[in-house]
Amino acid sequence: MNKLTVKDMDFSGKRVIMRVDFNVPLNDAQEVTDDARIEAALTTIKYILEKNPKRLILMSHLGRPKGKVVDSLRMDPVAERLAKLIGQQVKKLNDCVGEKVANEIEGSSAKVFLLENLRFHPEEEKGDEGFAKQLASLADVYVNDAFGTAHRAHASTTLIAKYLPCCVGFLMEKELDYLSKVTYSPEKPFVAILGGAKVSDKIEVVENLFRKVDRILIGGAMAYTFLKSRGEAVGSSLVEEDKLDLARDLLKKAEELKVEMVLPVDHIVVESLENPDTKKQVVDIEAGYKAVDIGQRTIELFEEKLKDAKTVLWNGPLGIFENPSYARGTKEIAQFLTSLNAVVVVGGGDSASAAKKFGVKDKLSHVSTGGGASLEFMEGKPLPGVAAIPDK
Ligand code: 3PG
Repeated sequence: MNKLTVKDMDFSGKRVIMRVDFNVPLNDAQEVTDDARIEAALTTIKYILEKNPKRLILMSHLGRPKGKVVDSLRMDPVAERLAKLIGQQVKKLNDCVGEKVANEIEGSSAKVFLLENLRFHPEEEKGDEGFAKQLASLADVYVNDAFGTAHRAHASTTLIAKYLPCCVGFLMEKELDYLSKVTYSPEKPFVAILGGAKVSDKIEVVENLFRKVDRILIGGAMAYTFLKSRGEAVGSSLVEEDKLDLARDLLKKAEELKVEMVLPVDHIVVESLENPDTKKQVVDIEAGYKAVDIGQRTIELFEEKLKDAKTVLWNGPLGIFENPSYARGTKEIAQFLTSLNAVVVVGGGDSASAAKKFGVKDKLSHVSTGGGASLEFMEGKPLPGVAAIPDK
C-alpha cells in the first residue's frame, strides 16, 4: 500500500476529521447488535488521540435514509457504544454541517465528536462540492478509515480529500494489504471458497481470480446454478435460470485455464425452509426438495481440497447459516480454516458474520469489514475512497 497513512501526518494541536464506516446493525430497541466495524476503527482512533490533536471529529453514514432525517437511523447508539469502547466521552452532534454544529464543537471541551448521519443530507451521496467543503471547514486534516464505504464516491469519502491534507487510517491500510495479497500476489496453492445466493454477485470476482487461483470451491445457493448448468437435478433449489449459460461458460473456461472447480457432491435438503423436520442428506436432489446446506461428503471433499493451501479467500456462506438447522457446512469449513497453515482472508458481509458467529474471526488472518467494497476490490475495480488519497 503506497498511500499516505496516519504515520505520515502530524496531528499535534490539529483539528482532525475522520470518515469511518459505523454502518452497524441496530435492533428494535436501538442497540448496536454487532460492533465489529466500530472495534475495527479503534486502532486509528487511539493512535490519533495519542498524538495530542486539538480534537477528533468522526463521521459516518448509518443505513440508507435517502437524504432525509430518519430518527431510527440517528448515530446516538453508535456514539454510546464508541464511548464505552474508548473509555472516554464522545460528544454526538445532531447534524453534520452548518454554523450550529461548528459553534457547538468549538464551544465544547470534549476531545472526540461524532457527527450525525451523513446521509440525512442528499448532498453526501450526490457528491456535492459545497457539502464536502462544509465538512472540510471543521478540520485541518482528513483521515479516511472507512474501508466498508471506499467503493462509494461520496462527499465524505472522496471530495473532501481535495480540501485538506489527507491520508488513510490503519484499518484501510490493513484491508488493502490483505486483499491485495489474495487478489494480486497469492502464495500458491491458492484456494477460493465462494458461496452465497447468487452467481451474478460473484461473476466478476471469479473472472478476475481465474488466472491466479488453483481451485474454486463453490457452495451456497449459487452452487445449484452451476450444478443445473451441468445437467444435474436440483429439485426446487434456488437457481438463477438466466445465468445458466454463464455458469456453463465459467466451468468451461476453468477447464481451459486448469482451474479446478469443486461443486457439492451431497446436500442437506428440506421440503420447505420453515420445516426443518423434513431435513435429510442426499446425493441426488428429488423434485420438491430444496438444498439448504452442503452435506458431509462435501465437507470432507472441501477440507481435502483446502488442506495444502497457502492462501485462502472465503467469500459467501455455504448454506443458510443463520438458521442453526442449516448451519453445519459453513460452521465446519469456517472452523477447518483455523487449522490451516495459510493466509486466510474472509470477504465482508455474510461470511464475516458467519466467521464471527462461529467464533473463528480472531483466528483467521483477516476478516474484511467491507462487503461491497471487498467484492469490488477483488473484481479489480479501483475504489474511489482510496484513489482520492495521495500516494506517499
Ligand atoms: C456497507 O455496509 O456495505 C457499507 O457501509 C456501504 O453501505 P451502502 O451499500 O449503503 O453504500
